[in-house]
Amino acid sequence: MNPDRTDPRATSRRAPSTVLVTGGAGFIGSHACVELLDHGYELIVVDDYSNSAPQVYARVERVAGRFVGAVYELDVRDRRALSAVFDRHAVDAVVHFAARKAVGESTRMPVEYYDTNVGGTTALLSVMQAHGVNQLVFSSSCSLYGDAGGGPLDESTPARPTNPYAASKCLCEQILADVCRRNPEFAVLCLRYFNPTGAHPSGLLGESPHGTPDNLMPYVAQVATGRRKRLPVFGDDYPTPDGTAIRDYLHVMDTVEAHRVALDHFADGPGMRVFNLGVGRGSSVLDVISAFAEASGNPVPYDIVGRRPGDVPELVADASAVARSWGWRPTRDLAAMCRDSWRFQQLNPDGYAGSARRPSTEE
Ligand code: NAD
Ligand code: WQD
Repeated sequence: MNPDRTDPRATSRRAPSTVLVTGGAGFIGSHACVELLDHGYELIVVDDYSNSAPQVYARVERVAGRFVGAVYELDVRDRRALSAVFDRHAVDAVVHFAARKAVGESTRMPVEYYDTNVGGTTALLSVMQAHGVNQLVFSSSCSLYGDAGGGPLDESTPARPTNPYAASKCLCEQILADVCRRNPEFAVLCLRYFNPTGAHPSGLLGESPHGTPDNLMPYVAQVATGRRKRLPVFGDDYPTPDGTAIRDYLHVMDTVEAHRVALDHFADGPGMRVFNLGVGRGSSVLDVISAFAEASGNPVPYDIVGRRPGDVPELVADASAVARSWGWRPTRDLAAMCRDSWRFQQLNPDGYAGSARRPSTEE
């Protein structure tokens, strides 16, 4: 049972100071841990390392100058293991990053994607409810807008998911809305990220995917160091100025700052609020290639290949709602994203492989 509460079914609202982060070893999660530690939060981190490594905590602690706190290796679908963590710690709020996120893979492994993303979220919700924890920040995705056409998309754009990953995020949003309708105490801040990228400016934390990168920026970074020979550019026949697809790239530091700001806004009251997180500016694949070449001083050789199934020509955020409501605005541009990704890639050519684990071992 949650040690701070006598009745585990009782719900309560209080300013979060102890935050449970799922998927905290991952790309965005690890940067979020630094941001929250920097702002005085106590953290409990759970991750199954299916797309990350526990070595990242030593980096997080080095950057933040503080211990991460309690760390648990577990699968969020494992209700018993998750429940034991909530029994042990007085959790005020949860930031739920843990999910599978590769669009292409989701078309090949739909069951695994629904199981992890939807099943992981329902398991988490049932454990939160059983422990009277009712504040959740949820990682959603612009991919649920599908092929919504050009121009900045606001949150009222209908969801039209085109792959199981996007559909899984859509289902999670529906479930979260239902939970908020059913439980008037529950507060969900649902953040639809566009394309988070970049790295911590220290070069100690960044995107370190297992295997061949799916996402553009880590692939470009590996080509710029020579680890991979050439970048495949997926299509130059889109209806865009240079024919390559346009996305709204957002620095990971801006992304995680939005999560820290979100935690202050549980005080606004219960219910579900949905916000886009993006810069509001589109960059094509060729724009990213030239910005990276400029930042690194290295060429990024590429081949134009066919379109990637499921890709859409353009996704750009209208992120004015979150600016109006919370005052959050991204401050870092594409050049900063490339510069920081490049620094991380240079300092960690093999990602976190071989780097030290934190001395305090996982629970
Ligand atoms: P990531 O893969 O780097 O991080 C996810 C973390 O969750 C990893 O550490 C992984 O090991 C862990 N995890 C996966 N399944 C788990 C499970 N069943 N139990 C416990 N831990 C598990 O991904 P990321 O880029 O940091 O993304 C974080 C969140 O943001 C995800 O929910 C993703 O869908 C969402 N998102 C990411 C992007 C992006 O471009 N990176 C864009 C929109 C939304
Ligand atoms: C960006 C652009 C590719 C790799 C996905 C999800 C989105 C979010 C981010 C999770 C596209 C092109 C890529 C390569 C390329 N993730 N590209 N060569 O597909 O916009 O978004 O990841 O939620 O929700 O949908 O991101 O980085 O994979 O691709 O030409 O080797 O780069 O075609 O136009 P994407 P991405």
